[in-house]
Amino acid sequence: MSVLFTPLTIKDVTFRNRIGLSPMCQYSATDGVMNDWHRVHLGARAAGGVGLVIAEATAVRADGRITPGCLGLWNDEQMEAAASVNRFVAEMGAVPGIQIGHAGRKASAARPWDGGAHLKDDEGGWPIVGPSDTAFDPDGTRLWKTPAQMSVADISEMQGLFVAAAKRALAAGYKLLEIHGAHGYLLHSFFTPLVNTRDDQYGGELRNRARMMLETVDAVRAVWPENLPLAVRLSVSDWTEGGLTIEDNIQMAKWLKERGVDIVDCSGGGATPAARASIGERTADQVILGGQLRAEAGIATMAVGTITQAKHAEALIADGTADMVLLARGMMRDPYWAMHAATELGADVKAHLPVQYGFYMG
Ligand SMILES: Cc1cc2nc3c(=O)[nH]c(=O)nc-3n(C[C@H](O)[C@H](O)[C@H](O)COP(=O)(O)O)c2cc1C
Repeated sequence: MSVLFTPLTIKDVTFRNRIGLSPMCQYSATDGVMNDWHRVHLGARAAGGVGLVIAEATAVRADGRITPGCLGLWNDEQMEAAASVNRFVAEMGAVPGIQIGHAGRKASAARPWDGGAHLKDDEGGWPIVGPSDTAFDPDGTRLWKTPAQMSVADISEMQGLFVAAAKRALAAGYKLLEIHGAHGYLLHSFFTPLVNTRDDQYGGELRNRARMMLETVDAVRAVWPENLPLAVRLSVSDWTEGGLTIEDNIQMAKWLKERGVDIVDCSGGGATPAARASIGERTADQVILGGQLRAEAGIATMAVGTITQAKHAEALIADGTADMVLLARGMMRDPYWAMHAATELGADVKAHLPVQYGFYMG
């Protein structure tokens, strides 16, 4: 029997299998509002048989979008559009999840296919913020804006924005909330010494650098219902001398667990140009490090990174590397990846598909 296709229950939420759509920015929104593209992108993977669909990095405030095309959850129009997509995702039998975050010093960029460089304010960009006032790549040939260093009052306001977004996520029908703590965006940039050079209670030693993430998690957990799963995506390594190590992240995972986080989504990199990107060649290594984090922190995990083969995904669950697998590019190529994997692994295909398709399957 396939373990990949065995249901997983976390709190009051049951996933029909261990496969999830990894969050993927679509850079296709106007004013942060979901549209037909998001409905089809997320809806097709739900209809394709996954257990969990995680909507892309969704900003808690307008300046937290990576690009002007990124999603937001800072107003009710955004919430209502998301609610409509979520109703469909849930009807298809998948659990609707969302990743909320703030892009910090990596915000205000052009879409990747428009070059991805920072947009000047008169090109549709905006002023950016971070733990410290250093640019992502001060020596780079592309424009990288310098963020304003956040004050303690700014930090507290930001945590309030995460809380407001969590409340809207609940109202929109999401059943799993993921806090984006990876890829060099705001929360990760506070945690990593590669970016955070503060000398107050939010900088310096590990526990101080973790404070922003942990306080945010505490504030969100207080409003996100106890019976619904809360996830955090971490960069399990910065892949750079002097950056965060797996040991640092195991410590972080223990702190997160104490605060009621249910599952850690194990990604990697992204803090600096040298700390390779989340879709770079180290993604296979991060899957292995995620397994170490699961074992040593004693918390459930999601594995992500270059998972494309059904047997590989099955093995990752079977050998205890992770509790769920997430696919991004593999599901861009094949929205029916889960259905194909079920067939290959001899699972009950019908049970993992909406009736409109499942009825006709062998
Ligand atoms: C187009 C694209 C957009 C992405 N957007 C996000 C995002 O919004 N949030 C996030 O945490 N990771 C994002 N990622 C990273 C993926 O979620 C995933 O971790 C990464 O692609 C590795 O998985 P894969 O090898 O299955 O593609 C994105 C990746 C791609 C290709």
